[in-house]
Amino acid sequence: MAETKAAKVFVTRELPSAALDPLAEAAAVRVWPGELPPPPDVLLAEAADADALLTLLTDRIDAAIIAAAPRLRVISNMAVGYDNVDVQEASRRAILVTNTPGILTETTADFAFALLLAAARRVVEADRYTRQGRWKTWGPQILLGQDVHDATLGLVGLGRVGLEVAKRARGFGMCVLYHDAVRRLKEERRYGLAYVELEQLLAESDFVSLHVPLTAETHHLIGERELSLMKPTAVLVNTARGAAVDQRALWRFLKERRIAAAAIDVSEQEPIAPDDPLLTLDNIIITPHIASASVATRLGMAKMAVDNLLAALRGEVPTHCVNRQAVRRWRRALPR
Ligand code: GLV
Repeated sequence: MAETKAAKVFVTRELPSAALDPLAEAAAVRVWPGELPPPPDVLLAEAADADALLTLLTDRIDAAIIAAAPRLRVISNMAVGYDNVDVQEASRRAILVTNTPGILTETTADFAFALLLAAARRVVEADRYTRQGRWKTWGPQILLGQDVHDATLGLVGLGRVGLEVAKRARGFGMCVLYHDAVRRLKEERRYGLAYVELEQLLAESDFVSLHVPLTAETHHLIGERELSLMKPTAVLVNTARGAAVDQRALWRFLKERRIAAAAIDVSEQEPIAPDDPLLTLDNIIITPHIASASVATRLGMAKMAVDNLLAALRGEVPTHCVNRQAVRRWRRALPR
């Protein structure tokens, strides 16, 4: 078993002590104290003698960082998505990459549904209306939205989170369509889901919710053409990754009311620029990438990231290793 005590670990943000303490007992840990992510030059310097990095989705771990880290054995990303890490380069350099799947599934699905309901029933707009002193009377035509019950929901991606959103939709009597690279026949039968092509999903859904990882294939998956297939009354929800949607096209469609509304927890640029034109529109809700942000889930994610990291330092393949193709090379590179 490899020795962990002398191992050096850099953690890119303060995490709850319930997660960090076990790490500090097992290794020499440095934690970036800032509220914002460490700047690239700090990350580069800290990676230089690190055996392990515990990173967040805000840390770009590219080929330059990896090349500057000759001792690095594991990059433990505290997120289910890992598009911020150059996994191919990590694999080439015999470094394992891990993520935190499962633990955040239900919390993220809850939030996707919260956004869907809020956009459909104009909850955020209504709150602003009240605070601005515009509530003069009960009005038969005021702040009318879209019904959620009995509507059609289209899930783009039926991974863990997509499936949990489908289960919630059943409680609202929704008809659920989905599109994915692979069909999930068991889930189709069990939850009454219908597989359709993306074009059909976009044309028939009252609500479209995205649940895809960000890859070369899903970059701008929803652009001008896809938005033009949606109903003018439709609502788009994105809790996946900002770049899955062409944000300029989304702005045009929302402004021209060619779709009714959107609710996004993620943005092509994070944080969204203060002068982004989307912020001028009433028919979009924008939240700061908080879909997994419950107390219990964020603690669970931190603990899982620490467990993954410590397993790798002990010379064990972590449960949530995303580049298993690199394991052989990683084992050969372990100190004996
Ligand atoms: C959040 O977006 C995550 O990938 O965990």
